[in-house]
Amino acid sequence: MIEELESSRIEIQAHLDGLKTQEERNRLGQFATPSLLARDILFHAKEFLPANERVRFLDPALGSGAFFAALKRVFKADEIESSSAFEIDPHYGGPAEELWVKQGLKITHGDFTQAEPDPAFNLIICNPPYVRHHHLKGDEKKRLQQSSLTASGHKPTGLAGLYVHFLLQCQAWMAPGAIAGWLIPSEFMDVNYGKEVKKYLLDKVTLLQIHRFCPEDIQFTDALVSSAVVWIKNEAPKSEHEVLFTFGGSLAKPDIVKSVSSKDLAKEAKWTRFPKAGVREEEVDGVVRLSDLFSIKRGLATGDNKFFVLNEQQVASLNIPATALRPILPSPRYVKDDEIKADEEGLPTNVERLFLLDPKMPEEEIQSKHPELYRYLLEGKEKRVDQGYLCKGRKRWYDQEQRGPAPIVCTYMGRSDGKSGRPFRFLLNRSKATMANTYLAMYPTPAMQQRLDADPSLLEKVWRQLNEIKPEVLLGEGRVYGGGLHKLEPKELSKVPIELD
Ligand SMILES: C[S@@+](CC[C@H](N)C(=O)[O-])C[C@H]1O[C@@H](n2cnc3c(N)ncnc32)[C@H](O)[C@@H]1O
Repeated sequence: MIEELESSRIEIQAHLDGLKTQEERNRLGQFATPSLLARDILFHAKEFLPANERVRFLDPALGSGAFFAALKRVFKADEIESSSAFEIDPHYGGPAEELWVKQGLKITHGDFTQAEPDPAFNLIICNPPYVRHHHLKGDEKKRLQQSSLTASGHKPTGLAGLYVHFLLQCQAWMAPGAIAGWLIPSEFMDVNYGKEVKKYLLDKVTLLQIHRFCPEDIQFTDALVSSAVVWIKNEAPKSEHEVLFTFGGSLAKPDIVKSVSSKDLAKEAKWTRFPKAGVREEEVDGVVRLSDLFSIKRGLATGDNKFFVLNEQQVASLNIPATALRPILPSPRYVKDDEIKADEEGLPTNVERLFLLDPKMPEEEIQSKHPELYRYLLEGKEKRVDQGYLCKGRKRWYDQEQRGPAPIVCTYMGRSDGKSGRPFRFLLNRSKATMANTYLAMYPTPAMQQRLDADPSLLEKVWRQLNEIKPEVLLGEGRVYGGGLHKLEPKELSKVPIELD
């Protein structure tokens, strides 16, 4: 019976999704949990619940009812005492009602975050709406911040999405000792707005487990976020307790398992380093970090690479004077070798020669001295390049940042499943080419520069050493996005330790 109902629900879900645009579904975070995953989650929940306790179930964001169906598949009828759910959108709430009311589900058609909490439930399972903060109106955001603060004692920043508020407000619905499983994007584990969430998870409830799915096997193909299941118990946390971090595989059979003490978690800003990497070593004297050797900056943002980055033919046909050009590296995907070689003038020899247009003179001067270049600028205006976000904010729309060439550059966005298994590459740049913001530029600190002046061969040694840094060490500092894309910010790269021979 339940299997048939679940098959109908899957069909209804697909039909209902098809009636909405992607934009409409984004606005209310309407991406259903795959049926198998919902069942895995309920199986896992059963392990946390005391065997003799009947379930009082709540799903605060029902959709068509993937979790309720899974509840009915995993728990016998006499193991369930009551089941309740919220759904704001009648598009899903209506059909869910028709399917599930006869099965004992009590649905409230309305906004979970505005309902009066009732701490009656001993199992909350939720895939909350992943609505990004910019879809939340100002007043709505303030109301949510206030109600999250009241419910949890933690006020998330304005950058937190709706799912954070669902999570922070759920404890008020949990009976003492109740279990909650939250299927949410894992980004809260690393980003700034996640700080309050992590504090809450450590201070107000007992955090039992965080399972992160492998971003390469995306669970929600249409939402493309890397997801985690966060398991909590409504119980004041002990001063120190172990939290289970699991990764990959399935909830029942993860690929990697590590338990991390809550004390170590409180000190760690990037929780996605677990369980692949261990607890970060205390900063002790003698640990050399990249910030000791390099000042790391993002490469320059041209405002419009297509317009401002020119190849040799364009330069020749536009008759652009050399003084208005600076060599610039091609984007990382066109750079095969890890070493950029150069000729005597400092122009790259083993990658395409490209030039950044940077005339550094007023338009009138360009018009009188370099008519072809002037015509090119007019073409840019016709294409509204000058109206772009960055160009508009400049004194002269075509002025570029004065960011010089860096001897080592890092490709800071990549996948760990690439050919080399290295998500990031360090390139030795022997040329005078500057770099756009597809790279991080690594400029030697004054102390490092002194050492390089004394021993120029040191640069190559450091570069080799950089490419030896284990991916886990780099990934432990960076962020991971849907589809297994890793990214490193300048500050994150600065913190990476390096062992110099
Ligand atoms: C990510 S979907 C999950 C649906 C279902 N539980 C599942 O796992 O397949 C989130 C659901 O929450 C609903 N929703 C969005 N905002 C809500 C709110 N403030 N209160 C209750 N439900 C809401 C959406 O309409 C959507 O159906």
